[in-house]
Amino acid sequence: WGSIGHQLTGYIADHLANKHTIQVSTALLNGWNMSRTTTWADDVKYNKSLPYGWSGPLHYIDIEDNPPHECGLNLTRDCPDGNCIVGAIANYTNRLDCSGKQYLPVNDRSDALKFLIHFIGDITQPLHACNRQIGGNTAFAIFDGANTTQYGKVQLHAIWDTYIIEKRLKNDFNDSFTAYGDFLVHQILKGAYAHHVPLWNSCLRKKSNHSKHDNHRALRCAIMWAKDSDKLDCSVVWPAYDADPKADLGLDYYKNAIPVVDMQLAKAGARMAALLDKELKKCHKYH
Ligand code: ADE
Ligand code: ZN
Ligand code: ZN
Repeated sequence: WGSIGHQLTGYIADHLANKHTIQVSTALLNGWNMSRTTTWADDVKYNKSLPYGWSGPLHYIDIEDNPPHECGLNLTRDCPDGNCIVGAIANYTNRLDCSGKQYLPVNDRSDALKFLIHFIGDITQPLHACNRQIGGNTAFAIFDGANTTQYGKVQLHAIWDTYIIEKRLKNDFNDSFTAYGDFLVHQILKGAYAHHVPLWNSCLRKKSNHSKHDNHRALRCAIMWAKDSDKLDCSVVWPAYDADPKADLGLDYYKNAIPVVDMQLAKAGARMAALLDKELKKCHKYH
């Protein structure tokens, strides 16, 4: 996602996480909330004077979706070295851990949280779980030509990261970030998403009550979340583009994408809060 999308996922988590989680995360984030911090991983990735260039591949997983392949994740094929968003979510969840006697130094756990809240967002962007045309980065399309032809063709990836969200914010929320964020929080707590949430977060529940710790929970969840996004590539992201790559994707494409983008942002926020409520439970705000 672009910066508004990420900030929305963090805004949702800031409103859904429990009080203890907020205290611990705020301490780890030097007083910043999650919404403000979600874009850190993009800032450091692009900043050549900072030593985080290696983190680029952690923002996506190149699920082999090129025709004639069906959508479908194969971890050995699509993330052989663990150097992808699925591996990163598992790794940074483990690095955040403070349930044992030993835990990592605060700077490492701070970085872990900053990466984690970003990647829990990116994994719900369908094109971050897709290898076709480098996640749609080399696929150019006209988006809503009536209003944006001055930009000419834009990357399909950017349409999903940024343009749909910006248009939605402007058209339906009067450009108010908090109005859009509050709407999504309400959908989760009392609206149309309320009955979906248990399913979105089902992998976070304990598998068996015999094992005290579930070290593989985050990996299991990240795999589920990547598959969930990838399905949308085959159902909504690519079909209209494939039908006519030269065409204006137009208002119909935007209208079909709105409920999908809303729901993907809501999923990210709800999962962020639920995962951190579990992972930070044993943590003290002073370590
Ligand atoms: N680079 C390679 N694959 C990518 C993807 N799915 N999203 C963003 N950047 C990528
Ligand atoms: Zn992106
Ligand atoms: Zn990213």
